[in-house]
Amino acid sequence: MLIGIDLGTSTCKVIAVNGDGEVVAKQSRDYAMINLRQGWAEQDPAEWWRATDEAITALTASLPGGGREVSGIGLCGQMHGLTALDASGEPLRHAILWNDQRAAPQCDWITERAGGLDELLRMTRNRMLPGFTGGKIVWFRENEPELFARTARVLNPKDYLRLLMTGTCATDVSDASGTGLFDVARRAWSDELLQLLDIDRSLLPDVVESTDQTGRVKPELTERWNVPTGTPVFGGGGDAVIQTTAMGLVDAGAVGFTLGTAGIVAGGASSCPDNPGGRVQVSCGNAPGRWHCMGVSLSAGGAFQWLRDALAPATTTDPISFDRLISLAKAVDPGSDGLRFLPYLLGERSPHVAPEATGSWVGLTPIHHVGHLARSVMEGVLLNLREILEVCGDAGLDCERVIASGGATSESLWLQMLADVLDREIAVVTGSSEGGAYGAALAAGVGAGAWSDFDEALAGVSVERTFVPQPGPAREYDRIFPAHRALYDALKPLYQANAEVL
Ligand code: XUL
Repeated sequence: MLIGIDLGTSTCKVIAVNGDGEVVAKQSRDYAMINLRQGWAEQDPAEWWRATDEAITALTASLPGGGREVSGIGLCGQMHGLTALDASGEPLRHAILWNDQRAAPQCDWITERAGGLDELLRMTRNRMLPGFTGGKIVWFRENEPELFARTARVLNPKDYLRLLMTGTCATDVSDASGTGLFDVARRAWSDELLQLLDIDRSLLPDVVESTDQTGRVKPELTERWNVPTGTPVFGGGGDAVIQTTAMGLVDAGAVGFTLGTAGIVAGGASSCPDNPGGRVQVSCGNAPGRWHCMGVSLSAGGAFQWLRDALAPATTTDPISFDRLISLAKAVDPGSDGLRFLPYLLGERSPHVAPEATGSWVGLTPIHHVGHLARSVMEGVLLNLREILEVCGDAGLDCERVIASGGATSESLWLQMLADVLDREIAVVTGSSEGGAYGAALAAGVGAGAWSDFDEALAGVSVERTFVPQPGPAREYDRIFPAHRALYDALKPLYQANAEVL
């Protein structure tokens, strides 16, 4: 029995997976986001630990043999966060999260110090995006120098859990890739960049492969969780990377679409992608000798959720449900009678690096009603993902077969529309609804010897449902795609001008 832990942005989810790769139990616990200012996003690391500890205790209590058959634990979690710890391992401040935009000026400074974007890409294969850990470290050093002077370690969120569980400071290659300080091609910290930025290497944890062991659960915890003495904990991975692995995409051959709050287009590669212009995010893969390439759109299901909340705040007595909104969207023809939506509610990372972009409707007329608003939001999200697919294809990703996962895939209209927008068959695979937690459990299983490698671990993953493109809607989306794509360039000067007069 393996335990997979996913320290998400709002929830810690833990699952137990048996030797056949089946999920036999799950638990989750929530925690809050702390938004002190617009564009800032923080969390209390103590809350992460409370949620994880409670969820594991409940999970093992629900297993027939308690936790006594657990042979390994794998970790995954939200990427790019900064958890600053003092010499005794105590957090010095709340963690700064992946969706926090405060370090944009520091990212520009880093790019300049590196000698420009091409030089930075040579060192790390990635742009320093505002969400990445590297920019946050520089922001912390500049803005909270007393706390920075007391900082002994900087960890990504899931690795703080590892420290409390085992006493070991370590991360895995996929999460390290998302710091922007990692030489993804060599699978090691970029000493060259660290030196240029004057960041001491000892602040950063040791790096292991996702299936490597990183210590054993402390005795006081094995007792509380009722797991065997010395239960090993394995490297695991950053959530966006390891959930792609959990979809069976270790190698080239297919592309994964994750329709969650964010939208992710991702796939595996057997050599490190070049990433010209830094238009995608390149990470080490969870299997040794494999890489991962993804384009992340910050608002996908999140844009639809925004629309629902905006139309009917949760406090009203008659809130409009997702089901109602979906059925109104279904009644509108593909193309939403000329209404176009750009989903940049939180700015954007891909297909455009555009922190200043905002959500926009173009083409509103009196004929449009709430169903058009709903359908155009879904279409705008999916056409945006089609653009990201093209960018990923340019970066060398093999985009032939499409597999979908994520919360929004429980609604078949999203999947049918994805098939129509891409004009490709879409497959939904078993286990994919468990996302990163499933990948973390598989990484632990490979590490513990339950399976010889990810290919064997993933043997039980099979296609659950498929969605085939419908000729009429597919033709319509092909027709409007160029118009959709032209919108960002046309609106870009307005986004910038609007940001200046805010
Ligand atoms: C990936 C990313 C998100 C976070 C939160 O680059 O920013 O997927 O990891 O889930």
